[in-house]
Amino acid sequence: MTHRVAVIPGDGAGPEVVAEARRCVDALGLDLTWSELPWGTGHYHEHGAMMPADALEVVRGHDAVLLGAVGDPSVPDHVTLWGLLLPLRQELDLYANLRPARLLDGIPSKFGDVDMLFVRENTEGEYAGVGGRAHRGLEHEVALETAVFTRVGVRRVVEYAFQLAGQRRGLLTSATKSNASRYGYVLWDEVVEEVHAAHPDVRVERVLVDALAARMVSSPGSLDVVVASNLFGDVLTDIAAVLQGGMGTAASASLAPGVATTPIFEPVHGSAPDIAGRGIANPIGAIWSAALMLDSLGEADAASALLQSLETVCRTGLLTRDLGGTATTSDVGEAVAAGV
Ligand code: NAD
Ligand code: IPM
Ligand code: MN
Repeated sequence: MTHRVAVIPGDGAGPEVVAEARRCVDALGLDLTWSELPWGTGHYHEHGAMMPADALEVVRGHDAVLLGAVGDPSVPDHVTLWGLLLPLRQELDLYANLRPARLLDGIPSKFGDVDMLFVRENTEGEYAGVGGRAHRGLEHEVALETAVFTRVGVRRVVEYAFQLAGQRRGLLTSATKSNASRYGYVLWDEVVEEVHAAHPDVRVERVLVDALAARMVSSPGSLDVVVASNLFGDVLTDIAAVLQGGMGTAASASLAPGVATTPIFEPVHGSAPDIAGRGIANPIGAIWSAALMLDSLGEADAASALLQSLETVCRTGLLTRDLGGTATTSDVGEAVAAGV
């Protein structure tokens, strides 16, 4: 069956890295069609919205989305992100954001061997979008930003993290802040304990997120699968990206395990406006995200061929300048495509 993939190249460096991911997938010769969706800040300037009114329907007509990045200095970030990426994750109910953090052979790192898997809650928590502002412009103006934790929302992502931990080293680390936060993270901890009862083979540890951030840097090898709320997962995975070489190297998959919906695959990094348009962005995170996509489309052999080629290219030292090399974005994409 033909895989129907929607591509949202987006803003800044997004289109540059996505083009290379596409080139690599094309080189695999799979039965796969791309529909390019020109959504993002350009669309916003032209039509007053980041994506069209029927966007969700359009996306649902595909088997996967490959996305570059969203965000441009010409429009406030909360407008662009709440106009595209966040509503897609929420309305498609993509509750688990999978972010592997593995140091590929050939990538320089100051932190030694790194191989963690982050499972980030992706639809609620601090990103629920609940809140508001009152007394606008007055001295006593107030802004409320309410984190929402539901038992169902926590349970489903924690359940998925336990499954993954069982398939790896049997260790699950749950990141919370249930010393200062008395409600949401206390519920989170309770749910972790409940789900643990069904997974006695997995050792679970509860680590306060501040201590976990320090441990990721001081002792990365002591961590395997980490499950975290939306905001904590966001922050921790930028640290994880640096542990595995840099922002340009990290991949992600927004999934709804067990539910028929359209998943989204995208690098962890943003639109990198400081380097966009110069052909120097690192495409590794985007190419790796495409490999995660192929895996989820049932193309496990193609996914591993792509990852292997990526790692071989890193080993030869063909690296972009963020990793100390001189290669361009397309040098890397071409080499990975040639090696699949
Ligand atoms: P960023 O990830 O875009 O950039 C942070 C730093 O990492 C910059 O120095 C940048 O040059 C570097 N970097 C990022 N990607 C790189 C790559 N592929 N190769 C080499 N270096 C790379 O984060 P930011 O600066 O905080 O955000 C910029 C914009 O992107 C904002 O509008 C933000 O809201 C948006 N953003 C979007 C996404 C997304 O769409 N998934 C993710 C994060 C940030
Ligand atoms: C990410 C990004 C997004 C997030 C932003 C752009 C809303 O930082 O995917 O990590 O916080 O989820
Ligand atoms: Mn982020």
